[in-house]
Amino acid sequence: MVAHKVVQVATKPYDDQKPGTSGLRKRVSVFQSKPHYTENFIQATLGCLSPSEREGCTLLVGGDGRFYMGIAIQLIVRMAAANGVGHLVIGQNGIFSTPAVSCTIRKRKAIGGIILTASHNPGGPNGDFGIKYNTANGGPAPENVTGKIFELSKSLQTYNICPDISVDLSTIGQQSFTIENKDKPFIVEIVDSVLDYTDMLKNIFDFNAIKLLLSGPHAIKVRLDAMHGVMGPYVKRVLCHELGAPETSAVNGIPKEDFGGHHPDPNLTYAADLVASMSSGEYGFGAAFDGDGDRNMILGHKAFFVNPSDSVAVIAANLGSIPYFQSTGVHGLARSMPTSGALDRVAASENIALYETPTGWKFFGNLMDAGKLSLCGEESFGTGSDHIREKDGLWAVLAWLSIMASRKQSVEEIMKDHWAKYGRNFFTRYDYEEVDAAPANEMMKAIESMLQDSSFHGKTFEAEGKAYTVQKGDNFEYTDPVDGSVTKKQGLRIIFTDGSRVIFRLSGTGSAGATIRIYIDSYEKDPSKIHQDPQVMLAPLVSIALKISQLRERTGRNAPTVIT
Ligand code: G1P
Ligand code: ZN
Repeated sequence: MVAHKVVQVATKPYDDQKPGTSGLRKRVSVFQSKPHYTENFIQATLGCLSPSEREGCTLLVGGDGRFYMGIAIQLIVRMAAANGVGHLVIGQNGIFSTPAVSCTIRKRKAIGGIILTASHNPGGPNGDFGIKYNTANGGPAPENVTGKIFELSKSLQTYNICPDISVDLSTIGQQSFTIENKDKPFIVEIVDSVLDYTDMLKNIFDFNAIKLLLSGPHAIKVRLDAMHGVMGPYVKRVLCHELGAPETSAVNGIPKEDFGGHHPDPNLTYAADLVASMSSGEYGFGAAFDGDGDRNMILGHKAFFVNPSDSVAVIAANLGSIPYFQSTGVHGLARSMPTSGALDRVAASENIALYETPTGWKFFGNLMDAGKLSLCGEESFGTGSDHIREKDGLWAVLAWLSIMASRKQSVEEIMKDHWAKYGRNFFTRYDYEEVDAAPANEMMKAIESMLQDSSFHGKTFEAEGKAYTVQKGDNFEYTDPVDGSVTKKQGLRIIFTDGSRVIFRLSGTGSAGATIRIYIDSYEKDPSKIHQDPQVMLAPLVSIALKISQLRERTGRNAPTVIT
């Protein structure tokens, strides 16, 4: 067999490859047209591993099927070969959901994985692409690793590549390549990425109980929308083949490079089709996933919406319905700072530790690795547990189906019983997407200096007949209880004396301009008020947030792009 040549190609450093909340995300055109841009970032990522680590390791590669993924995978293969990586495991046709990558990294004891995704951002030639690195625990690389990648990307002069290798991504099995000056062959293994993941779910949930709910004599009809993202094959295998739901339960199940021209983001705006189909009353349960399958939106009969902050609280209150937690026990609960305090009520009543972390899943991973955390969630449609180190959309769906099966109640009944017992945290998020960066940054600066002014504390704001007095305002800062690392500037929060919160944050996952997020959380325990419309309940706090931030005046935006 001829040995494949390793070539060193000259490149120039880039200063804009700092990974954001979840990897490097840019417009496809940036990856495509800036010279060696993709190669630079791959080299910087592989450069985080020492030569000896690379030699013996297994590294996973796969993604959500979006445009440019195939090209990026072939580049990774060629560069991994040239950089001395021993063994690559790649999903068939490149398909690997983010939770499945996390699962398989852990199962195979791989050193990490490279995920080609921009998650919920649109795809296609005019959409976004992304490259994300996960480490050996299966979770997104922590800041010390992403920092190292960034430093390398700013100083690279060359990268290594075996230009004449290319792999057949469609055939399951091993391909072996001889590389010049290397003793051991370079192995590429193409796997069915749904297998390990399905086995894992079988060990977490009571599949028989869910099967009865979906196909027994009183079966409910479900509708699961993969939004043309990576989840189609996973939904078909788990829901239809394993759990007996009819094939028609899975919609938009073929991964498309451009997600059918849609935004693969499971929220009320971008999953409007699911909401419309659910409204007819034909289905008892519905869910949608994002492009890479880590996010979920849960809907009940007639499109009854479960707010993600409530979703994690309901699961926490019903862990007894899930066999996994009976065997592992419950070590702790966690939510990101902007997520509503619904989970805190369950933690307090069950006497379980509760952690409040910055936005982004990586902060949960540290707590899980230390055995301090079992279940966590984010308001941004992320729910998961310590079974892996990513949020997990299909896991959340099976958690809800397990609860429905054991409580013998509908989604709406479960939710309403929960509010009756714990009270309700009304929550909303306003997103202003692709705002000009300059006024967005100025707005954040102005709010922050307002919070630092001592006269702000104790100040009362009034709107629509309601008054709120400021108790505290700060830029959220987190000290990791495991390693003591401090993460600063994680969102401006204003906490009022009744516990209501208004939070301003700039997104770390956008690819153009700035996205401003306003989060509002307010608790109500009066049973006569807990069934009101959150937008009505929170209207006064929204007015106050807009007044404090002067958002409309500063950005020229009169309405948010998305309201959740
Ligand atoms: C968003 C969400 C955040 C989530 C992240 C990755 O980040 O708000 O909760 O962890 O996507 O899915 P952001 O754009 O707000 O930085
Ligand atoms: Zn995602």
